Amino acid sequence: MYICPCKGIKESDVEKLGRAGITCPEQLAAVLGIDDGETCCGRCLNNIADIVTIASQEHLLCSASSHR
Ligand code: FES
Repeated sequence: MYICPCKGIKESDVEKLGRAGITCPEQLAAVLGIDDGETCCGRCLNNIADIVTIASQEHLLCSASSHR
């Protein structure tokens, strides 16, 4: 599923960032290259909370499995 159709960013891309420990909104927006519309439409930035949730869940799953 696409998180950002403009830049072709998929949910799996966000999950990968989460596994790398990138979970805060500012970092995610910077790494994904999304902003408030200066260089892209910025619609996905309105969903940054959902992007953070996806990354955080993946980070927690990854952390939990590495402690087994
Ligand atoms: S939807 Fe992400 S930049 Fe347009």
